[in-house]
Amino acid sequence: MHSLDLLADADRETLYTELLASLRALVADEPDLIANLANIVAVLKQALPGASWVGFYRQIGADLVLGPFQGKLACTRIGPGRGVCGAAAERRVTLLVPDVAAFPGHIACDSASRSEVVVPVVRRGEVVAVLDLDSESPGHFDALDAEHLERVAALAAELAW
Ligand code: SME
Repeated sequence: MHSLDLLADADRETLYTELLASLRALVADEPDLIANLANIVAVLKQALPGASWVGFYRQIGADLVLGPFQGKLACTRIGPGRGVCGAAAERRVTLLVPDVAAFPGHIACDSASRSEVVVPVVRRGEVVAVLDLDSESPGHFDALDAEHLERVAALAAELAW
C-alpha cells in the first residue's frame, strides 16, 4: 500500500517533482492499465486542489472515450477534433485554455468549469489518450502545469496500453 506524503507547503516545481516520483513508484509494481490510470488521477486531484476535474479520455477507434477520472460526471464520448480534448489529440499538442468560453467548440461537461489544460498521451507515435484537467477558476493552469503534466502523460504512455 502506498501513501501520498507530498510537501503541503512546497513551491509548485518541488510539488510536481515529488508528485512525479510518487506516481512512478505507484505504477511500478502494477501491470493493470486502468488501475494505474485511476490512481494517477486520484493523486493529481489530491495534490492539485485547484483542479475540479482530472481524468483520462482513451482513444478508442475514432473517438475519445471517458476513462478513469475524479470529479463530476462527464461526457462519455468525444468525436474526432471535438472540444479541447479532440483538438489536443488531433494536433498532438498540449492545449492550455485560460478561458473555456473563448475556445471555439469547447464541450461544457460542467458549466462551472472556467479553464482547462489537455495533454495528449503519445505512445509509439500514436495518441492513446488525453489527460484533461479542469478548474472553476479562470486562467488556473499555466506553462509550469503544462510542462509537468506532460511528464505525467509521458509516464502514462509507458503503461500497458
Ligand atoms: N471540456 C472538454 C470536455 C471534457 S470535460 O472537460 C471533462 C473539451 O472541451 O474537450
